[in-house]
Amino acid sequence: MDSIVVTGGVRLKGQIPIAGAKNSCLALMPATLLTEEPLVLMNAPRLSDIDAMGLLLRSLGVHVQASEDGKVITMSSNGPVSTMAEYDIVRKMRASNLVLGPLLAREGRATVSLPGGCAIGARPMDVHVAALEALGARIELKEGYLHATAPTGLKGAKVMLRIASVGATENVLMAATLAKGTTVIENAACEPEIVDLAECLVAMGARIAGAGTSTITIEGASRLGGASHTVIADRIELGTYMMAPAICGGEVECLGGRIELVRTVAERLAEAGVSVEETGRGIRVARGNDRIRPINVRTEPYPGFPTDLQAQMMALLCIADGESRLEETIFENRFMHAPELMRMGADIDVRGGTATVTGVKRLKGAPVMATDLRASVSLILAGLGAEDETVVNRVYHLDRGYEHVEEKLGSVGAKIERIQN
Ligand code: EPZ
Repeated sequence: MDSIVVTGGVRLKGQIPIAGAKNSCLALMPATLLTEEPLVLMNAPRLSDIDAMGLLLRSLGVHVQASEDGKVITMSSNGPVSTMAEYDIVRKMRASNLVLGPLLAREGRATVSLPGGCAIGARPMDVHVAALEALGARIELKEGYLHATAPTGLKGAKVMLRIASVGATENVLMAATLAKGTTVIENAACEPEIVDLAECLVAMGARIAGAGTSTITIEGASRLGGASHTVIADRIELGTYMMAPAICGGEVECLGGRIELVRTVAERLAEAGVSVEETGRGIRVARGNDRIRPINVRTEPYPGFPTDLQAQMMALLCIADGESRLEETIFENRFMHAPELMRMGADIDVRGGTATVTGVKRLKGAPVMATDLRASVSLILAGLGAEDETVVNRVYHLDRGYEHVEEKLGSVGAKIERIQN
């Protein structure tokens, strides 16, 4: 398993291109199941999670073709497709559960393995199931698989989500595009990835209003056509690279970043004393020699502070000039990066869903272990500002969500290299 070695203390300077959004692309790809015509995605990120979704769709009989540089993905599926998403594929990537709604809408049945828990929490699917049952599906759990049928097709209905779940919103939104009649989703997730998915579905002929708000209305259609769609910029990659100069000083322009995708993050960084400004080509972030100011952060659904940037913000607050409090409200176990940061000299007290971080002047490089996607990158960020060398092990987590992280950080002057083990 590869490791990444970071030698800290280098101020960054330059530009980092922001890729297409992993969490949008992972929802857009299963949408191909809603039509027999080609769906083409541009600006797709080159990530192992995207490859995994491609494998899953191929296992269902979808033709998936990626361009040489991986940025254009062309998919098509005419004729019947398999409706079984195997445990072995789904357990590796929870987002595989996003084929459930489209398969039900297209074939009237689907057998999708429950993804099982992951490092950050149990991550059940009860909200997905309740939403699809509201559209007339019958879903039962047998031997770890959700067996879903809709023998007379799906019917539009009022769907109230118990939690504003991103994945459940995506599953029921896709299913509703081919249901008979009107569906109204209440308490829908408002993330930009939902808006991106809705825009693609509308380009395919769906009739959707309200995406991006907590009430989405869908007029079911008898069929959808193909489309070409450009994936939005990845707001989590963007927020991650905004934290890099904040942690080790310098100035980085994140190309293709749009401020409206990270407004809350930009406001919190400014509160911590980091300069954040929009340029014609993206977002420039800079920090001089002054210390980071301590701040309190609470993760919330969009447009609040994203849970996927909580670990990265913790790495920054480890070197703040005082005490900060980080509250994680979305997942029940998303502080696994804390013990690893403490190996680097951080002073963090975790009690339930709240971490109190007492800043130190500087962290010290150490061998650390990546435990999940966002925790991994927070350790890399911590290493950028730490003394000496930090070795981050098990970086396969990182490759799921960050394109060539060592190239992107190396291009702005970071001393970072990947060791093939
Ligand atoms: C999406 O996961 C993202 N993944 C996650 O990003 C992100 O952290 C999360 O949304 C929250 O923003 C993708 O888009 C592929 P949820 P998702 O359903 O849809 C509970 C990353 O690092 N819940 O909004 O799975 C759940 O356990 C990943 O890129 C239920 O209880 O998240 C969690 O506590 C990590 N029952 C909360 O809701 C359900 O049926 C939010 O989950 C569904 C969810």
